[in-house]
Amino acid sequence: MQTLYLTDSQKDISTAAAILKDGGLVAMPTETVYGLAANALDGDAVRRIFEAKGRPMDNPLIVHIADVGDIERFSLTAGFSEKARKLANAFWPGPLTIIMNKGAAIPDEVSAGLPTVAIRLPSHPAARRLISETGLPLAAPSANTSGKPSPTTAQHVIDDMEGRIEAVIDGGACDVGVESTVITVATDIPRILRPGIVTREEIEAVIGDVEVDKAVLNKLENNEKAASPGMKYKHYAPRAKVILVRGGDKYYIGFVNRCFQRDGDCAALCYAEDADSIVAPSVSLGSKTDLKQQAQALFDALRAVDEISGVNTVYAHCPTAEGVGMALYNRLIRAAAFQVITLPEKRIIGLSGQTGAGKSAVAAMFRELGAGVVSADTAARQAVEEADVKAALCAAFGDVLNPDRSLNRARVARIAFSSKKNLARLNHITHPRIVEIMLEMASRCEQDTVIFDAPQLFEAHADVFCEKIISVLSAREKRLERLVRRDNLRREEVELRMSAQYDEQFFIEHSDRIIDNNGTVEELRACVKEVYGRLTDGES
Ligand code: TXA
Ligand code: MG
Repeated sequence: MQTLYLTDSQKDISTAAAILKDGGLVAMPTETVYGLAANALDGDAVRRIFEAKGRPMDNPLIVHIADVGDIERFSLTAGFSEKARKLANAFWPGPLTIIMNKGAAIPDEVSAGLPTVAIRLPSHPAARRLISETGLPLAAPSANTSGKPSPTTAQHVIDDMEGRIEAVIDGGACDVGVESTVITVATDIPRILRPGIVTREEIEAVIGDVEVDKAVLNKLENNEKAASPGMKYKHYAPRAKVILVRGGDKYYIGFVNRCFQRDGDCAALCYAEDADSIVAPSVSLGSKTDLKQQAQALFDALRAVDEISGVNTVYAHCPTAEGVGMALYNRLIRAAAFQVITLPEKRIIGLSGQTGAGKSAVAAMFRELGAGVVSADTAARQAVEEADVKAALCAAFGDVLNPDRSLNRARVARIAFSSKKNLARLNHITHPRIVEIMLEMASRCEQDTVIFDAPQLFEAHADVFCEKIISVLSAREKRLERLVRRDNLRREEVELRMSAQYDEQFFIEHSDRIIDNNGTVEELRACVKEVYGRLTDGES
């Protein structure tokens, strides 16, 4: 099928209206995002929307009208309650969708079998002319391929829908940029199912108390049912993996820059004020203080990161969830499939080096000097007792639990160190959670400077959280002796473990400072003191 490209001229609107009356699909601009419209009273036409988008059939559509009178004229709802009427008066035409009990005219395809229907009266002039000219209510979801960011330009629609729909009307870039606020008044207390630029506060000023559905800000558990079916699907996701990063500006900037310097395959979704400080490729959402501008830019920005070559991960600076920010947060957390990194507001110093080199002694000295210390070993011990981690370990290595269901750590260690592949599997399961626990522990530290005492700092990718990295080195024989004594292991076992680690040269190349621990304790202490002094002076 050839997709017709139409303008918003009267002639083109008439062409589009004829297509719709004939059961076809037309993408139309609205003030929020582009919608993919079909005759809402024609179940067959509506079914084609689901096919074109690849949308699950259990996700209902919004019915768009040109006049409030259309609700009764077409029997779209069963009644029009006082609250619904107040909302319509206050916010229509505009970016608010009201869910009411459905009327007889609504085919099951539109409501996905629910007893309710979503209605919206858009303010975009081209949309209104189109709806009026068809003389029909139009069912229209966002005109993107299901799962992708919603389209805010005709080009976005063409990118997703070319050849699958009869026509697209180009009405320029959408003003609002995020989809309408969806509120149900079919519950005792009206409830927001999807936030948009019409905020909770604005709605409460009109109809009093409203609730915000749990799924707006949180991930639903497997056994929880979504009040709005759309909320349960992965959404708004570009090809690259999105991770939300929560934290103050300077911490976010430092983190993204280190990630880029380390891996080279990430981009930042950031605010205009920070763009110049970010060395990674970045896409700006606009000014920090202008939430409406950010909303307008959001979907275009999510599509734009996929245009940057070589980007596998996008670190998005997490917005606040207040006011219009709730809409931004709701879209981003879904684009990120709920993956969030919370950066501690601390100066984090990585402390690494080969086992037996004396890291723990150095960490203790830093602690005496006033730094907080977070031990990867402590975090690891906590991580491996968590149910999810234990389950993953058993799935990977067989039954590795003691009779009391605690982890048989010696057994896991034996299996893991028996081959490179097993060690990689162990790390893949445990490292992400260990790092998460370390970040939580760092946030709780009283001190401003926190040492990450982590032999596997680099393997765990925890180096990207560290402003500076210090490694402790010591001669191989010395390390061997210490370990045999300390861990009560045989020489061969120690050698096996040592062979799994990076060599000295690696630590030298990847650290800002090396602490040499081949001398006396006094020498070590003096060195640590000097290093700490420089760190807290803000120098390296
Ligand atoms: O701004 C918008 O609302 C855009 C433009 C085109 O109007 N439309 C839009 O439609 O975003 P769509 O289909 O992408 O999102 C509609 C959302 C979905 O999350 C869906 O599950 C929910 O509204 N929804 C529709 N009818 C519902 C109902 N009866 N009960 C609960 N949720 C409903
Ligand atoms: Mg959508």
